[in-house]
Amino acid sequence: MTTASSDALVLFGATGDLARRKLWPALYRLSLSEGCVPPIVAVGLPGPGRAGFETFVAKSVHDVCGPADDRVVRRLLAGTRFIEGDTTRHGTIEEVARSLWEAARPVYFLGVPPPQTTATIATMGSVGIPPGAVLVEKPFGKDLDSARVLNDSLLKVFSAESVLRIDHYLGKEAVENLLAFRFCNPFPETAWGRETISRVQITHCEVRGVDSRGSLYEQIGAVRDVVQSHLLQLLGIVAMRRPVDGTAQAFREEIARTLAAVRPVDPGQLVRGQYAGYRAEEGVAADSTVETFAALRLDIDVDRWRGVPFLLRSGKGLAATAIEVVVEFVPTAHRLWFTREDPGPARIRFRLGSRGGTVLTLNARRPGADPGPMAVDLDFDLQASGDSWEAYTHLLSDALHGRTGRFVSMDAVEESWRIVAPALDRREAPLRYPRGSWGPDASAGLPGDGGWCDPL
Ligand code: BG6
Repeated sequence: MTTASSDALVLFGATGDLARRKLWPALYRLSLSEGCVPPIVAVGLPGPGRAGFETFVAKSVHDVCGPADDRVVRRLLAGTRFIEGDTTRHGTIEEVARSLWEAARPVYFLGVPPPQTTATIATMGSVGIPPGAVLVEKPFGKDLDSARVLNDSLLKVFSAESVLRIDHYLGKEAVENLLAFRFCNPFPETAWGRETISRVQITHCEVRGVDSRGSLYEQIGAVRDVVQSHLLQLLGIVAMRRPVDGTAQAFREEIARTLAAVRPVDPGQLVRGQYAGYRAEEGVAADSTVETFAALRLDIDVDRWRGVPFLLRSGKGLAATAIEVVVEFVPTAHRLWFTREDPGPARIRFRLGSRGGTVLTLNARRPGADPGPMAVDLDFDLQASGDSWEAYTHLLSDALHGRTGRFVSMDAVEESWRIVAPALDRREAPLRYPRGSWGPDASAGLPGDGGWCDPL
């Protein structure tokens, strides 16, 4: 693992959508809390000029962070060189290399659209940029073969340990809260397996549609966009054994080992949907069969999880915006002499979206003449406990400091593509569902009795 701090950050795609929504706000927050960030070389599409670029950055920070400290924004801009150009062309990359003449260990953020990624890497290789670490956005490839090709092209320019594959869910504090719940308390591990857990549900839902990303989304769809990456990483975190030690290496190995035991999706346990109106979105084909919703059941071939369904669903244009993992326990067969009904299943709900936290639903005695049992929620709100950092702030900080624990290993990437392979590029048209619903009706029965636990 590399430990040296970086002395430059190169942002390819510095005026794109990700840069506007996530990267510049994250760099602003880092400048605020760490005092400074290294010199930045920002590469964006030709057009805005220096003045337009500065307006773009300031607006992005103000829009996302609320009232911002203008001195910090000015300091960030003063340390940033802006280059306009096409990242696949030698001239642009040569200018980047010249700007890095003083840098001994730069970090490169490959935030260009997927079709340009491989060509940009090849140009970096042939120009001979200063060696450093490289951050690569998801999806890493578009299937198993292309992921391997992409990795090979990176390894021609960077060392294996310098390739940092992003899945921003690994930078979410609420996801680390789930890990802390599992491994920093004595009791959950004793109840973590098929004897006590009846099923696990992982839901990622968004009210918004594809917005301005229609043409990009057409090449991806829900399975590649969210299931292969975010939801399988979450499955790995819920189902993994305790890593052999507390190192980033052991954590990453254990996720990959867990994913290696997951059976590929059974197409009979997959429901694909498309929200009504998707085909009229800008950049979307009038006869598109790209899915904006996917629900599936996965099984893990290890003794601990045999027979326990892992139910995953992700969609746009749905009834709510949330990310939740719900672990449902086998109901206890124990009815106390003074109660009238059997207790319901206890649950742990990990809220991983904007209001992160954990809700533990347990059985308790109802006050008064009717003793229950009744379900009660013990609710822990992560936000109430302090100011949090957004995922990209952690990821950029980690990359600049040579920390690798929040990045995805190539083994995990390969296993994820293997698992979702039968769900990719399906010929049948996805089922239509109305916006604001919970997806196609056919997905409702996938979890069996009790159905889906919709987000709170
Ligand atoms: C991105 C996907 O990786 O994650 C988007 O490309 C999706 O389609 C987003 O909207 C969801 O991220 P978050 O952090 O808002 O849950």
